Amino acid sequence: MNLSVLFVMVMLYTMCFQVLKTQQLQVGFYRTNCSNAESIVRQEVERAFFFDDKGIAAGLIRLHFHDCFVRGCDGSVLIDSTPNNVAEKDSPANGISLRGLDVIDRAKARLEAACRGVVSCADILAFAARDSTEITKGIGWPVPAGRRDGRVSLAAETVALPPPTFNVTQSTQAFANKGLSQKDMVILLGAHTVGRSHCTSFSKRLYNFSPTTSQDPSLDPFFAWFLKSQCPLDGQGNIDPNSVVQMNRSPNLQDNSYYADISAHRVVLTSDETLNSNSQTLSLVNEYASNNTKWLIDFAGAMVKMSKIGVLTGTAGEIRSNCRVINP
Ligand code: HEM
Ligand SMILES: *[C@@H]1O[C@H](CO)[C@@H](O)[C@H](O)[C@H]1NC(C)=O
Ligand SMILES: *[C@@H]1O[C@H](CO)[C@@H](O)[C@H](O)[C@H]1NC(C)=O
Ligand SMILES: *[C@@H]1O[C@H](CO)[C@@H](O)[C@H](O)[C@H]1NC(C)=O
Repeated sequence: MNLSVLFVMVMLYTMCFQVLKTQQLQVGFYRTNCSNAESIVRQEVERAFFFDDKGIAAGLIRLHFHDCFVRGCDGSVLIDSTPNNVAEKDSPANGISLRGLDVIDRAKARLEAACRGVVSCADILAFAARDSTEITKGIGWPVPAGRRDGRVSLAAETVALPPPTFNVTQSTQAFANKGLSQKDMVILLGAHTVGRSHCTSFSKRLYNFSPTTSQDPSLDPFFAWFLKSQCPLDGQGNIDPNSVVQMNRSPNLQDNSYYADISAHRVVLTSDETLNSNSQTLSLVNEYASNNTKWLIDFAGAMVKMSKIGVLTGTAGEIRSNCRVINP
């Protein structure tokens, strides 16, 4: 082989490597340009959790999911609506149910003060989801970072988020659309071990399930009675849109108890109940219900996978200076 051929090959190899390097997320991405990035986010998550509201951890985990399923993990869920645009956060799928937005704002303000224009809002969400998992006694993970922020947020695109009325086939399709397997879905749904749900997300199961049955027959009758007591109808037959129930008996603890709840038909969402209706998802539910460590480890892995959906890297997108507003 002559020298010039070798030279060209080495050049090509280096170029490919450079392209790969800029396009892939990396653990420790901010080490050189903002070495405190991850600890600043961590401090703000801890401050909110320990001194303000434990529910913030669940809220932040869900925020990352809702970010990633709509236009990829690009921080688009954080953008505020403008007179000309209804953003994702003001869609029915998000709306009043989102929690943790102010924690992201506080982290971002400190990050801009410490290292202006370096840390993306999309990465803050990814760090905060990991921190929220650890703080609720789950198993964390090193967060591959280097996401850039998108410049588009459209309420209409939240159709990519599966609604709680979906059956297992429909949910599986929604995850497949994002490159996630049915197993990933069952693992990730274990996140419903923390947090809360608004009564309006499942009240059909209690009061007007079908033309012939008011109550969903798949719901444990005692649990249905309990839920009705938490989600009462007013004199006009309406439910207070602000009323909520916790997802399970330990809403601030990452554990596999939600899988046992599914088997016992004591889960609030149809989309969780229907994991019983398919032999593959049912066997995974049983597997995770019987091994907490296995679920915690697999959850960490599935979160990393989810956090890579449709990311912008390199010079794509931008580093927003305010997570609520696209840079001018
Ligand atoms: C088929 C898929 C899913 C459906 C249909 C679904 C639906 C829902 C609904 C309806 C709520 C209650 C919102 C409210 O009314 O306040 C909720 C809460 C929650 N979801 Fe999901 N979800 C799904 C998957 C996921 C995934 C993949 C994650 C994260 C990995 C996740 C994490 C959470 C968390 C942590 C909460 C509690 C939020 C809080 O307490 O503020 N969900 N989900
Ligand atoms: C760090 O800053 C340098 C100089 O501005 C820049 O070339 C590099 O891309 C930055 N790296 C990261 C990870 O932000
Ligand atoms: C799930 O819902 C879709 C749409 O309503 C329906 O076509 C399908 O048969 C349902 N699948 C199962 C397993 O119930
Ligand atoms: C639970 O899962 C872990 C991790 O996969 C494994 O090492 C352990 O042997 C399992 N425990 C039981 C009781 O099966």
